[in-house]
Parts: sequence; structure tokens; C-alpha cells
Amino acid sequence: MDGITDAPFRYITDIYGKPDILYTEFTSVKGLILGKPAIQRMLLRHKTETRTIAQFFGCEPEYFYQAALVALEKGFDGVDINMGCPDKSVFHRGAGAALIINPSVAKKIILAVKKGIKDGKEKYKIDRYITVSVKTRTGYREPQTKEWISHLLEVEPDVICIHARTFAQKYSGLADWTQIGIAAELMKNSKTKIFGNGDIKNRAQALERIKEYDLAGVLIGRGALGNPWVFTDKIPTTEERFQVLLAHCKKFAEFFPTTDLSIMRKHLAWYVKDFPHAAEIRNELMQVNNIEEVKKIISKTLKTL
Ligand SMILES: Cc1cc2nc3c(=O)[nH]c(=O)nc-3n(C[C@H](O)[C@H](O)[C@H](O)COP(=O)(O)O)c2cc1C
Repeated sequence: MDGITDAPFRYITDIYGKPDILYTEFTSVKGLILGKPAIQRMLLRHKTETRTIAQFFGCEPEYFYQAALVALEKGFDGVDINMGCPDKSVFHRGAGAALIINPSVAKKIILAVKKGIKDGKEKYKIDRYITVSVKTRTGYREPQTKEWISHLLEVEPDVICIHARTFAQKYSGLADWTQIGIAAELMKNSKTKIFGNGDIKNRAQALERIKEYDLAGVLIGRGALGNPWVFTDKIPTTEERFQVLLAHCKKFAEFFPTTDLSIMRKHLAWYVKDFPHAAEIRNELMQVNNIEEVKKIISKTLKTL
């Protein structure tokens, strides 16, 4: 998730949530290939056995080909192609959800990534399983799941993950899981696996959805904010939340030693919930610039609990 799933976030999620797969923030293939320094930082990663997938966005198949090579060079386990982002800046470039209305380019991109993975495996002598996946939505203005997913299946990506909203819905309303049911039915006899996505709040609900729609898996986005335990059955105590919040800050400082903590503030606020005066503490955390300030707020709060 853009602005969220950076290397420290993935580290914390991995350690405390133990999900099966982690995804990077979406990264511009053009920015990556043209060498924008800020982009390299998005592909930083921690050492882990957990499958970690580089997500890319753009609209140029050639850049996707090259980005797939970079992903393999950096040791990622797969490339995920964003075909769902509704943000204006991405959409107007013909990327993200704009690919839903341009299936011929979408298919060229998938084929380019497949070739990049094939060539990269040879070049870097990799023989483990590397996936090519697509993360998309159910349609543009209205759900058009059958038609859109049929296009994608023509070029056989390994996985299609469907966020059960249209481009027009952005993040509003509820995810329409019946559309995921339609896609699952369509994909039943194909080699492509399906992941569902949208509004999952906990592990039990994830398992229910997988069973109900016969899916290979689900992705959890917002439910994981300040909550790596969402992938487990654990309900953390307030103390545990604070411990992990602090561990997250330390990891952030390790990865980005020259960046102050202000861009971590939103994460800090997400950890703080479900105890009296949580809102006040969140406000205080929204002002911090360094770990010392965070520690002071935590120790003061723990004394009042
Ligand atoms: C702040 C934010 C950033 C996101 N960035 C990305 C992204 O970079 N790539 C992507 O595929 N989806 C992105 N999404 C969409 C989520 O991955 C997910 O599809 C959506 O939030 C619905 O799932 P959820 O209800 O589990 O959050 C983002 C969502 C949010 C709220």
C-alpha cells in the first residue's frame, strides 16, 4: 500500500502477524527504470523467508519488463501489477485502474512481466517459484468482472487479486463480494489462482471468505494498519501495542536513519486504540519528531492505565 507498506512496516507485519505474503508499496516502473532515487527506497527489504512481492504501476510494457528484472535482482518472489489504483495522478497516466478500460495494454504488460521473470530467472540463476500477479478491481464505472477478468486470463497470470469495488467507488460503500464469487467461478478451470480483497477485519473473516468463495487466499489492507496481529487470532494488550509501536519506530530509524519520525506519525496513531483517553494520546503522537518523544508519551500513558 502506497505510503504504508515500506520496509519497516513489512518487517513488523512479518514478525508479529506472520502472513503468507507481503507486498511492497506500489512503485512506478518509469521512475524505477529512469533512476529516480526516491523510488529505490520503496524496494528496500528485510531478510525474511516470507514471500515478498514487488508491486509496480505504470503503462509501458517495456519498463515493466525491465522492472521485473530489477525485482529478481533484488531477490523478490514475484511481481504484482497494479491495475486498480483509482488516484487521479495514476489514472490520468493510463496506469492503475485505467488499464481496466485498456485491456490490450494490460495484457501486453502481463506478457512483458512474464518475459522479464523468465529472462531474469536465467540471468540470475534463480530456480524458485516466482509469480506474476495482477491486483485489480471489479470494473470501471460498473462491475464488469466477467469481461475484464476473461481478458486477463487470456495471458494466464499466476494470480489475480480482486478488490471488490469498481474504479468509480474508490474506497466508498462496501466491497461487493458477490463479484469475487463470479470471478472465482470463471477461474475455476484456469491455472490462475484468485485472491479476494475488501473490508476484511480479522483472520476468522478471512478464512470464512476463502471457504465461501473457494479462493486461494485473501489480502488484508486497512485492517493491518497499526495491527499486524490481524493475520493471527491474537488480541494484543495495550502494553503489547505500545511495545510494537516502539519496535516499529526503531526499525524505521534503522532503515531510514536520516529521516525524522514525522512520516511515522500516522502509523503511531493507528496503534493507539481501545483504551480510555486513546484519542488524546493519538493527538500527542501526531506531534512527535523522534523516538525519545515517543518513549515519553508511552511511559506516561502506561502509568495511567
Ligand atoms: C492508503 C492506501 C494506500 C493503498 N495503496 C495501494 C497500493 O499501493 N497498491 C494496491 O494494490 N492497493 C493499494 N491500496 C488498496 C488496498 O490494497 C486494498 O485493495 C483496499 O484498501 C481494500 O482492501 P482493505 O479493505 O483490506 O483495505 C491502498 C489503500 C489505501 C487505503
